[in-house]
Amino acid sequence: MQTGNLIGGEFVKPASGKSITVFNPADDQPLAEVPDVGEDGIARAIDAASKAFPGWSATPAIERAEILRRWAGLMLRDAERLASRMTAEQGKRLAEAEGEIRYAASFLTDAAAHAETLLGHQVPSPKRDMRITAIRQPVGVCAAITPWNFPSAMLARKLGPALASGCTMLAKPAHQTPLSAIAMAELGVVAGLPDGVFNLVTCDAKLFSETVFADSRVRKVSFTGSTPVGRLLMKLASENLVRLSLELGGHAPFVIFEDADLDAAADGLIASKFRNAGQTCICPNRLYIHASVYDEAMDRLRQKIEKLKVGPGDAEGVKIGPLISDDAMEKVERHVADAKQHGAEVLCGGERAKPQANGRTLADRFYTPTLLSGLKPAMAMAKEETFGPVIGAASFDTEAEAIGLANSSPYGLASYYYTRDHSRAIRVAEAIRAGIVGVNNGGVSTAQAPFGGVGLSGFGREGGPWALDEYTDVKYISTGVAEG
Ligand code: SIN
Repeated sequence: MQTGNLIGGEFVKPASGKSITVFNPADDQPLAEVPDVGEDGIARAIDAASKAFPGWSATPAIERAEILRRWAGLMLRDAERLASRMTAEQGKRLAEAEGEIRYAASFLTDAAAHAETLLGHQVPSPKRDMRITAIRQPVGVCAAITPWNFPSAMLARKLGPALASGCTMLAKPAHQTPLSAIAMAELGVVAGLPDGVFNLVTCDAKLFSETVFADSRVRKVSFTGSTPVGRLLMKLASENLVRLSLELGGHAPFVIFEDADLDAAADGLIASKFRNAGQTCICPNRLYIHASVYDEAMDRLRQKIEKLKVGPGDAEGVKIGPLISDDAMEKVERHVADAKQHGAEVLCGGERAKPQANGRTLADRFYTPTLLSGLKPAMAMAKEETFGPVIGAASFDTEAEAIGLANSSPYGLASYYYTRDHSRAIRVAEAIRAGIVGVNNGGVSTAQAPFGGVGLSGFGREGGPWALDEYTDVKYISTGVAEG
């Protein structure tokens, strides 16, 4: 298993004298040591990306696309191996990890397709002796800062469109989950990536940000993570006017109208909410149900939620894996305690889980999937992302009230609602303030669609042709044409 950093086409262990230990969150067993590089290592990665840029940006898009497709093919070939590494370091159940590898590969193939069709424009000119052309060009060296919750997909979501556009990149994975990123980088080399086009460094997050924003060769940074960190990055970006994409926290509402298919709504909620043990930026955090179907919908939900098995991600039949850290557990417990203090009723869960260990000593990091009734605006979980397998519900009486509740958060990443009324479906989609709206659909994620938020959830879009806009500049070429 490779554990070094990919810099300039080689796996190296820059001599900072420090390393990061990667642990399995299910049992706290150490899995590997990766380098904890200093400023030198990051600077080497910027040098490598900068040196590779002229050659890569001049490479025909069809050849860049071919390498991305080969890379995706290798990931699919090795999906089982990559998934088991992801489950070990991240905790999610194996089936989800394998799904994430396929999801990650699809970002590479989607970006490859758009690389080949990246359009410029010839615009009708107002003057007889002038022609107007607008072309798209890669912005240059880019940096990616990726999160631990989707360690392969969020990296692919950034590097696919960056490399497809002709940019080169250096990326820093989260310190909890660098092994999935390193495994991907290894396959990139096998796929034929020229040296320095993609570089991966493992290091302190603050040092990485400060170093890349201080180097004027880095023209774009894409970050997925929390809103407070997003704010800091905006400040750092101001010095060299670096372009940013920020995919920040969410606080998704999930609305069930009185005319909804209640079973479909319950299944949609469960698929979305409990994916990755609730550690997903787009998962619902607030459930609003029409008063006339509240009891029935909550009962169906409770029955389904109670069946979700909790345990290590590699154990048979498990649906909910461990939380990533003790801090994550502390936040989940704080939200549930606070909700109870505000009068919420626990319909199921509401406590730590003690899953079957089969002889293994498990970490105390498993939480029972939880359904709470009596969600109130003053509760912490109504204001902040819980990032765990917990959902609180409240009832509403009118469509206008539901829209008001859905829009009551300054975050605006994803939102969901279920209705069988076609006109209502359109009205509500237009009224909800969010980058992503799931109408009768809890599974909105796909590489072909624009993914991103509004408000405190950030800006920029990842996926589909929109992703390549983020990594390219439009150049206007005005050509004088003499009359013949
Ligand atoms: C995220 O949680 O940040 C990404 C989830 C997804 O792409 O589905």
